[in-house]
Amino acid sequence: MAARVEDLAADGQPAPVDVQILPMRRRHLRSVLRIEGQAGHRGWSLGLFMSELANQTGRRYLVAKVGVAVVGFAGMLFVGPDGHVTTISVDQAWRRRQIGTRLMLALSREAIQRGATALTLEVRATNEPAQAMYRRLGYAPAGIRRNYYADIGEDALVMWAHDVDTPDYARRLDARERSIRGRTMIVGLDGSGADPGDAPETEEP
Ligand SMILES: CC(C)(COP(=O)(O)OP(=O)(O)OC[C@H]1O[C@@H](n2cnc3c(N)ncnc32)[C@H](O)[C@@H]1OP(=O)(O)O)[C@@H](O)C(=O)NCCC(=O)NCCS
Repeated sequence: MAARVEDLAADGQPAPVDVQILPMRRRHLRSVLRIEGQAGHRGWSLGLFMSELANQTGRRYLVAKVGVAVVGFAGMLFVGPDGHVTTISVDQAWRRRQIGTRLMLALSREAIQRGATALTLEVRATNEPAQAMYRRLGYAPAGIRRNYYADIGEDALVMWAHDVDTPDYARRLDARERSIRGRTMIVGLDGSGADPGDAPETEEP
């Protein structure tokens, strides 16, 4: 979707947007699947999201909301000293507003709190926007997994951010956070706000 004129700030960039980041719940899955469906290749099924949410051990799934609308989501698996990004997507209509970055920052900070020393992920070899986002968060290419995305016949680039438990990496995250336009409210993670739990929401049954 093209940016609306009223969404553009004077410098031509999308206007700053306030975003809430909170734990993914089953009631978010309709919106999550809608966003997942924009990917243009076979994405995660409802069953896969449900089983990931049912098994909360060693993983974190988050959604980003603007007002009542879910506009993005991301997940991470914590495996020993590594945090492994399992999925991330932002609604096409809301991209380039640092929503992906904000989700990544929240997951990275949680991984570090849980004792991670490195973060990793696979990304489609041709997915330049995502790779650019990851590079800005300190990820570097480490290898290729041939035909990893078999349904679309595409290779994966494996990326790693090492030494994420160091002051240097903390400074990188802080700098990235400072560059975000708009406020970010983290809700329900480590006592940083009231967790709305499973309270019903009007838009997400
Ligand atoms: C990748 C994705 C999650 C990024 O979300 P986003 O909210 O638009 O990203 P951000 O606004 O946080 O962008 C972060 C940085 O990445 C880079 N970037 C993001 N989109 C870009 C694009 N289309 N072209 C070039 N650079 C881009 C920029 O450096 C950007 O920083 P800046 O806007 O401050 O210059 C989003 O494009 C998406 O959902 N893509 C489809 C799903 C997907 O590819 N997921 C990744 C699977 S591994």
